[in-house]
Amino acid sequence: FPIDKTRAFGKLILFGEHLVVYKAPALVGAVSAYTDCQIEYLDDAPGKLEVIDNRPAVPLYKETKKEEGDEAINLTLKHLGVDPAVRGIRLTFGGDLCCASGIGASAAQVVSLARAVNIADSRNLTEDEINAAGYEGEKGYHGTPSGIDNTAATFGGLLRFQRTDGAPIFEKKSFPSAIRIVYASTGITASTTKVVGDVRAMKEADEAWFAEIMTEYMSLVKEAEKVVEEGDLIKLGKLMDQNHSILQKMTVSCKELDDLVDAARAAGAVGAKMSGTGRGGLMIALTPTEEIQDAVASALEKLAPQVWKTTFA
Ligand code: PMV
Repeated sequence: FPIDKTRAFGKLILFGEHLVVYKAPALVGAVSAYTDCQIEYLDDAPGKLEVIDNRPAVPLYKETKKEEGDEAINLTLKHLGVDPAVRGIRLTFGGDLCCASGIGASAAQVVSLARAVNIADSRNLTEDEINAAGYEGEKGYHGTPSGIDNTAATFGGLLRFQRTDGAPIFEKKSFPSAIRIVYASTGITASTTKVVGDVRAMKEADEAWFAEIMTEYMSLVKEAEKVVEEGDLIKLGKLMDQNHSILQKMTVSCKELDDLVDAARAAGAVGAKMSGTGRGGLMIALTPTEEIQDAVASALEKLAPQVWKTTFA
C-alpha cells in the first residue's frame, strides 16, 4: 500500500481564525509535517471498524478529541460510501504531525483517510473531491467548519482562503523569501466546537461589537495580502501582532498563549500571535533569521511543553 501517497499536512493560520467562519479572508500556511493513513479491509469481520492511532500528540490531545475524531472518521467514510457494516475496516494513522489544537490535525487525519480510500478502491478522485470528503469529516469536529483546515491539509503551501455562500474560494500565494517560524503548544486542548460556539454567542449578543471587530480585521488582512506580495517580513510580523490583539478582544486567547506571544517578541520575533481555535492550542512567531529563530525557540522552551521550528517555503 503506497502510504506516502496518503499524506495530508498540518497548517497554521497566519491571519483570520474565527473570522474566517464569517466569510472574512484568511491566510494559512501548511507545515511540512503530515499525517498518513493505512487502510485494510477485513472481509471476515463485517461491522468492525478498528482505528490504530500512532500519531504523536501533545498529552491529552487524542483523549480529549476521541469522540469527535471517531465521528469525523465515520462522516468521511459515509461521504465516500464506505460502510464498515458491510466489510470491516482497519485504519492505521501515523506520520510526524504532532496532534495539537491549532495544527489542523483533525483535518489532516480525515484528508489522509480520504486519500487512503481513494487508493485502496482505485477511485481516481480529484484533489477537489478529496478536499470535499475532508470537509465532511471536519464536521465531526465542529458543526460549522470554515473549510480552511481541510483545504490547507489537501493542497499545502501558503493559501488565501475565503468562505462564500457557495464553494469556498482559495488561491496559492507565494512569498518572495522563506518564512521562518517557531510554533509552540500551550499543552492545553480546547474544543473548537465550544470556542466557535462562544464566539457565535458573543456575536449574536452584540452585533455592533462584532461588526467593529470585523471592520478592523478586514483592513488588516487587506494590508497583510499586500505585504505578502511585497515580501516584507517585518511588516507582516507587525500585522500578526495586531491580529493577536483582535483575537484577545474576541476572548479566544488566554494567559498561557499571551505569555508565549510576549516571550517570543522579547526574544526577537518580529511578530507573534495565537493560531487556530485558541483558549490553549498553539501560537506562532515570525523569526527573520536562523539566530533569532533559535533564540525564540529557546525562550519558548522555558514556558511551553512543545516547540517546533519550521519554514513556510
Ligand atoms: O484549531 P483549529 O486548527 O481547528 O483551527 C480552527 C480555525 C477556526 O477558524 C477557529 C474554525 C474554522 O472552522 O475555521
